[in-house]
Amino acid sequence: MAAPRFDDLALAVIGGTGVYALEALGEARELYLVTPYGEPSAPIRVGRLTGKRVAFLARHGEGHHLPPHRINYRANVWALHAIGAQRVLAINAVGGISPEYGPAMLGVPEQLIDYSWGRVGTFCEEADAPVQHVDMGAPYTPALRAQVLAAARQAGINVVDGGCYGVTQGPRLETRAEIARMRRDGCDLVGMTGMPEAALARELDLHYACLALVANWAAGCDPEPHDITMDEVHANMAQASRHLPAIIERLL
Ligand code: HPA
Repeated sequence: MAAPRFDDLALAVIGGTGVYALEALGEARELYLVTPYGEPSAPIRVGRLTGKRVAFLARHGEGHHLPPHRINYRANVWALHAIGAQRVLAINAVGGISPEYGPAMLGVPEQLIDYSWGRVGTFCEEADAPVQHVDMGAPYTPALRAQVLAAARQAGINVVDGGCYGVTQGPRLETRAEIARMRRDGCDLVGMTGMPEAALARELDLHYACLALVANWAAGCDPEPHDITMDEVHANMAQASRHLPAIIERLL
């Protein structure tokens, strides 16, 4: 369907692993959009939260069928822009590298390093598209980062302010040597979906910030080393994502 435009869209949320819906989204309408780049990962749900209009998109699809390298990042970002989004809050599951990013913690990273490959990372791909060299010095919008941090503070939720998110290709987790290299590079957390989403959002001039939820210690970072289990990942994600409604409501 052609994208309807909502002039009063207060926020768009892109949910990552473990966050497939915003339960409190009242009167939600489902939009099945087709963009010039194909279909977004899932229908976009547009509804109201605390009286404000909010859109939600599940990055991996509602049943988590899309691995990070198969996500159509361009369709997702384009679709949110097309319906009128100006502020995008990206929720990303990550592994913690630095000590403050322990399991079940939340954080708002400030920097990015992209180790992913083979993903279409620009809207300047087609021959007739004007070439843009967007400034990515500050990959996340400082004002939106500050708003997310203030919202968490008001809600009494402990959130790490800053850090560098290293984006790996996945879907496998990293080796200890890869994480050791990323630590030397200055990464504090590792995930698979932070890019090219942030760069695409910048190309469309969207305000974009990441709220990272720590699912596990990255390889070799656990003070009490053991193999990462899916049970542990799910438990940490459930614990961290409990705080999302309070943060999002205050952000509105
Ligand atoms: N590595 C990469 N991505 C992740 C991890 C990890 O350890 N945990 C959750 N997403």
